[in-house]
Amino acid sequence: MKVVKASAPGNLFFAGEHAVVYGHPGIIAAIGKRTYCTASERNDNKILIESKEYGKASGVLEKGKVISREGEKPLMPLMNLVEIVASKKEISNGFELKISSEIPVESGMSSSTAVLSAILTALNELFGLGIKLSEYFDYLYPVQVEIHGGKASGSEIISSSIGGYHRIQKIEKEGKAKLTWKSLGEHEFSVVIGNTLVRAPTMLTVKHHVPSLMKRFPGMAEQAFERIAVICDKMEKALQSEDIELLGILMNENQRLLAELGISHPKLDDCIKEALKAGALGAKLSGAGWGGVMFALVKKGDEQKVAKAIESTGAEAIVTTIGGDGAKLH
Ligand code: MEV
Repeated sequence: MKVVKASAPGNLFFAGEHAVVYGHPGIIAAIGKRTYCTASERNDNKILIESKEYGKASGVLEKGKVISREGEKPLMPLMNLVEIVASKKEISNGFELKISSEIPVESGMSSSTAVLSAILTALNELFGLGIKLSEYFDYLYPVQVEIHGGKASGSEIISSSIGGYHRIQKIEKEGKAKLTWKSLGEHEFSVVIGNTLVRAPTMLTVKHHVPSLMKRFPGMAEQAFERIAVICDKMEKALQSEDIELLGILMNENQRLLAELGISHPKLDDCIKEALKAGALGAKLSGAGWGGVMFALVKKGDEQKVAKAIESTGAEAIVTTIGGDGAKLH
């Protein structure tokens, strides 16, 4: 029986979370923390999914559909991805997926996109499907929309599949969401992530908070998103010229706008304040907000100092690489 192992990275937003859902640009990078998927063929038509974090789920594959689904609810979107791939690629053979992750769930580092991307990479190899990284968006986007509660940009799919640093922007073409992306090159920046340990499901802010703001204060979020788009333009240049001082300033500006929109959290604010006091060049939350992670851009050699400052708030500091590999086989 064939067995393959694949992995995909989590990611951080240098700028543009939330704004990207509404068609504005964002800047995103893959991180060194990854989710792993081992896929093995079965000689029947059963699908088994086992995740260290969420437990087990099972189903039966019949004519491209996954029927008689059972198991843990958070694993059902993964079954939906299995169904999308099985129906598009006419897979009738069963298989098992074993998932493990270095990315804390509901932390803002896109553990959900990393797992989807790792699964697709594993199935692609297991069944020789020939799916290109540039096609991942079409497979993963509907599942990401489901996980985010009905709205999503799909931005994280690019860093989880292609890796590196990208400027991304969602566009609607003939009523269908598409994502444009541009590589921003290779850079060895130093970052320290602060996990507040406050679990924050993406849908809290994406489905509930931001749409409610837009309804109650028309124009407010749009104005902030337009200012974030200007930050993205400046940041793209700062990133490419490796002007880390300016990059830090722009991260701080983006954070101020997110805080004005009520997307931050007291624990995030504490971590950001302490990181900046300890000499970080810039610091901001990443992802959906209301908990989860922030990250600080630091000068080389300052990682431990800033990590200690972040830990002084009770958060967990994570020193990892940024801008590295996307989805890959092991
Ligand atoms: C969540 O990781 C990032 C958001 O911008 C939502 C999205 O892009 O779908 C808040």
